[in-house]
Amino acid sequence: MSHWSIEIETPSELSDWLSWLIAERLDVAVEIQDDETMTPGPEPEFCRLLVRTEEEPSSDWVKQIQDCLIEVGCSEAPIRSRHDEDDSWRLGWRAFFKATEVAPGVIVRPPWSELAEKAQNTLIDIVIDPGLAFGTGTHATTQLAAQLTVKTLKEQTPLKVLDQGCGSGILSLIAARLGHKVTGVEIDPMATRNAQENLPLNHLSDDDIKFIVADAVPQEEFDVVIANIIAPVLIDLAPQIKTACQDTIILSGLLSDQERQVLKAYDGWSPIERIQQGEWLGLILKKAES
Ligand SMILES: C[S@@+](CC[C@H](N)C(=O)[O-])C[C@H]1O[C@@H](n2cnc3c(N)ncnc32)[C@H](O)[C@@H]1O
Repeated sequence: MSHWSIEIETPSELSDWLSWLIAERLDVAVEIQDDETMTPGPEPEFCRLLVRTEEEPSSDWVKQIQDCLIEVGCSEAPIRSRHDEDDSWRLGWRAFFKATEVAPGVIVRPPWSELAEKAQNTLIDIVIDPGLAFGTGTHATTQLAAQLTVKTLKEQTPLKVLDQGCGSGILSLIAARLGHKVTGVEIDPMATRNAQENLPLNHLSDDDIKFIVADAVPQEEFDVVIANIIAPVLIDLAPQIKTACQDTIILSGLLSDQERQVLKAYDGWSPIERIQQGEWLGLILKKAES
C-alpha cells in the first residue's frame, strides 16, 4: 500500500517538544529521524520529523503543523510532503521498539521481544503491541509518570485509580499489575481499542481495567488520578480531577516552564514530589492541609 509522508526539518533541541505537539494536535504518530535512527537526519544539529498517512495530507493538516512550528518558535522550518510506493517502513520501525525500563524494575516490551534473561527479576513486565496510540514507554513523560505511579502504588492495599489520557494503556497496566482497580479514559477511540487489545497480552481483563472513550473525567471518586497529557489539557481538566481525586494526583506531560501555570490550576493541592527528565516534569500532588 502506498503512503504519504510529511517531513519537517527542525533543530534537534526542538524535536522532542515539536513531535509531542504535532502528535497531540493531529492525533498521529511522529517519527524522529536523527543520527541514531534508521535513516540519518540531515545534519548533526538538525533532525527530521516524519508523519506518515495513507491519504494525501489536507491543507488543514499542514496549517496545524505550521501552527505548531510557530508555537515552538521555528516558523521557518521547511515542510515537505511526499508520495511513496515503498511500504517497508511498516515493518522497519518495529526494529526500534525494544524493551525499555520505564521505571526501576518495570520493563515495557513489544510482544515480539522476549524478556531478557538478565531481566527475569523484573518487578513488572508489561507487553504493549504498539498501534498508533501514544505509549510505548520510550517518551520521557511516560517514564516520569511510570516512576511516580510505581512509587505511589507499590505495596499499597488495592486502590481505585484513574488514568486520564491512557493512550496504549501503559500506565493503567502498570497500576493493575500492582494490584489496583483501574479506569483508563482516552479521547481517541483508536487508542482505546489498542489499550483494550493490550489487556490479554498482560493476562488482565475488564475486571482489572475498564477502558472508556471520553474527554471528561468520570464523575466518580478515585484514590489516585494519573494524567500524562499536555499542559493546556491538564489545566482544563484541573477542576474535574480535583473533584474526583480523594488522595493523590500524578501529573506528567508538562514542561518545566509550564509548572507555575499548571500548579495554579491545581490550587488547594501541593507538590510533594517533583522529578525532571530533560525539560519534562513529573509531579505528585496531595491535598493541602487546611
Ligand atoms: C501523552 S499521551 C499519554 C499516553 C499514556 N498515558 C502514556 O503515559 O504514555 C496523552 C493521551 O491523552 C489523550 N487525551 C488528550 N486529551 C484528553 C482528554 N481530555 N481526556 C482523555 N484523554 C485525552 C491523548 O489522545 C493521548 O493519547
